[in-house]
Amino acid sequence: VMELHNLLMALFLCCRFPLLNITVPLTFCSKAFLTYASSVRVGAQRGIQECKHQFALEKWNCPESTLQLSTHSGLRRAPFTAAGVMYTLTKNCTMGDFDNCGCDDSRIGQTGGRGWIWGGCSDNVAFGEKISKQFVDALEGGHDSRAAINLHNNEAGRLAIKATMRRACKCHGVSGSCSIQSCWMQLAEFREVGNYLKTKYNHAKKLDMDKKPARAGNSAVNRGGIAHTFRNIARTELIYLEDSPNYCLKNQSLGVQGTEGRECLKGNRSMPRRDRKSCRRLCFECGLRVAEKRIDVVSTCNCKFHWCCTVKCEKCTQVVTKYYCVRKDNGRKQKARRRNNAHRQ
Ligand SMILES: *[C@@H]1O[C@H](CO)[C@@H](O)[C@H](O)[C@H]1NC(C)=O
Ligand SMILES: *[C@@H]1O[C@H](CO)[C@@H](O)[C@H](O)[C@H]1NC(C)=O
Ligand SMILES: *[C@@H]1O[C@H](CO)[C@@H](O)[C@H](O)[C@H]1NC(C)=O
Repeated sequence: VMELHNLLMALFLCCRFPLLNITVPLTFCSKAFLTYASSVRVGAQRGIQECKHQFALEKWNCPESTLQLSTHSGLRRAPFTAAGVMYTLTKNCTMGDFDNCGCDDSRIGQTGGRGWIWGGCSDNVAFGEKISKQFVDALEGGHDSRAAINLHNNEAGRLAIKATMRRACKCHGVSGSCSIQSCWMQLAEFREVGNYLKTKYNHAKKLDMDKKPARAGNSAVNRGGIAHTFRNIARTELIYLEDSPNYCLKNQSLGVQGTEGRECLKGNRSMPRRDRKSCRRLCFECGLRVAEKRIDVVSTCNCKFHWCCTVKCEKCTQVVTKYYCVRKDNGRKQKARRRNNAHRQ
């Protein structure tokens, strides 16, 4: 029964938001599903946008393709999508966007800790978790190792929302003495969730599994093997199959775009180490060279207030240097070498 329920949900998602190229009649779309579905779509998009931000300087940069969940990209994007959906559903619920749900006030009045009591309106993550799980996990119908990894990483994505939540408080007491506070739990900015997941990604466990049964899928024997492999991995950690393609090279059939044309950063010591090494990672490690481009950036500046009441600004042009990975031009290089040799002789 549960599986049918999930299948219906998955079908419904197909008709509302074209994750998969299936068309189903609208009768599948009940009112409750409709209400949540728009939120799920917004959340999935939010997750993908954050994924793009977090991977802007990585060889794999979270490319947008039709959401094929079992591809490499699908696997890597999964925790971001799951987190985005849970985040948005939680926010919507707390803001009162849904009839049947509101913020979590179940602990109001209880003592929280020294000097504070539960008060105010906590973000309802329990609701977000439950509904996002139904929608997002339902998309993973397979029983192979990829499906198992996706479900694990979806869960890790949702746990990231909880791990980054924090307590917010308001002071009470005589003339703001703050002798007692009332506190509630609220979601972090989604950027912080993204940073958290990126750190998890950098430390992701790579599973070295026999790939043949994984591709064949759907074998009970294989599922036993998966469970065994996962046993020692914490639910908060991300896992991947050790089968990354070469992200340097464009491969249309794999949906890999390659790093040619990508922007990288050259910077100073104040930049994070991983960003500072981005030209090496994206260009040099991929057999490309770095090309410099000077770009005029126009912005408003020297704004002055005129009595009364206008603000007048000038337009300032600033030259910004940007760096891109480009193919090595062998012809020109050889000519240069010949010229050098001629010079030496
Ligand atoms: C949920 O929140 C998003 C913005 O975070 C908003 O675009 C969307 O309309 C909301 N959904 C509902 C049902 O109000
Ligand atoms: C793309 O990847 C597939 C699978 O790894 C491989 O068989 C194929 O040769 C690749 N194509 C190109 C153009 O590299
Ligand atoms: C270092 O790089 C950052 C980012 O590009 C820039 O904002 C900052 O001004 C630079 N600092 C110095 C000392 O050059």
